[in-house]
Amino acid sequence: MGIKSVKVFAPAKINLHLEVLGLRCDGFHELAMVMQSINLFDQIEIIAQDKGVLSLSSSEAGLSCGEENLIIKAAKLLRQLVGLDDLGAEIKLIKNIPIGAGLAGGSTDAAATLVGLNSAWDLGLSKSQLIALGAQLGSDVPFCFDGGTQLTFGRGESLEPLRSMVNTMAILLVKDPLVSVSTPWAYSLSKKVNGSRYLKEESEYELRRAQLRKASWLNPLTSSNPPPLINDLQKVVAPVTPAVLNALDFLASLPGAISFAMSGSGPSCFALYPDLPSANSALKSNSERIKAAGLNAWCCEFVDKGAHFQNSENNSF
Ligand code: C5P
Repeated sequence: MGIKSVKVFAPAKINLHLEVLGLRCDGFHELAMVMQSINLFDQIEIIAQDKGVLSLSSSEAGLSCGEENLIIKAAKLLRQLVGLDDLGAEIKLIKNIPIGAGLAGGSTDAAATLVGLNSAWDLGLSKSQLIALGAQLGSDVPFCFDGGTQLTFGRGESLEPLRSMVNTMAILLVKDPLVSVSTPWAYSLSKKVNGSRYLKEESEYELRRAQLRKASWLNPLTSSNPPPLINDLQKVVAPVTPAVLNALDFLASLPGAISFAMSGSGPSCFALYPDLPSANSALKSNSERIKAAGLNAWCCEFVDKGAHFQNSENNSF
């Protein structure tokens, strides 16, 4: 095998909708979400090696590059599947997506690693094989392959693409850099607070899925009077997480935003704007307040792709 190197972009996602329907037999929650990729990217460079060594380095000093990193887990899982122990790789991560933020940063890195290694190691696995592997690594990983705008059910692995929302709006995303939220903690809190009200039967889940497939809020949220965004985890995480309350208070005070919510299990929160110039202008005119509130901020657009090679057709980044 010749030495091969690839560079893969791994976009973050936000949740335009997150509903916790119930508790599954496997202990995970049954979810109904609308996930949306945004143009905030990690970059993963992979140089294939043939000595069986997997190494990871990261631009983010606080991130562990050991066995527990999803990138290493993904590489090992892939190598195990194909049974070729001498496959190795030097992997370099440029981390732009904040960690523990509810933006699927770890999941998108895992998806990008599988896509990148499949090519760098010339394995020829199909996308559905990679998605199935990704599902073993985390509930959000399957979405991160195709990304874009998707309704997701089950643990998050059951994917139903929606009409692209690219160019329909942009976001102002904020996060307290000192705070991260543990996803298992957020779900266990949901179970504690709302468990007695969860739906119980598959037929009830299916009814709700059918409603959501037809829901009018799936139309671009550009109307002058959009329904509020729903995030069931926000309802339980925000009251006990000052960093989320602070971010939501700040976003609520912004004029011109269409709507706002927490993403995933938090703590990052976003406000929707009709377009990038209006999001940029909100960022610019509130930069002092953002600083005073101790928040980091980004303006992002929606993108209609998940993990993708640097040289793929969309060259807007
Ligand atoms: O799948 P992932 O590793 O991202 O999940 C992290 C944790 O979040 C799980 O161990 C579980 O506690 C919780 N979770 C859940 N239901 C889901 C997804 C995640 O309860 N659908």
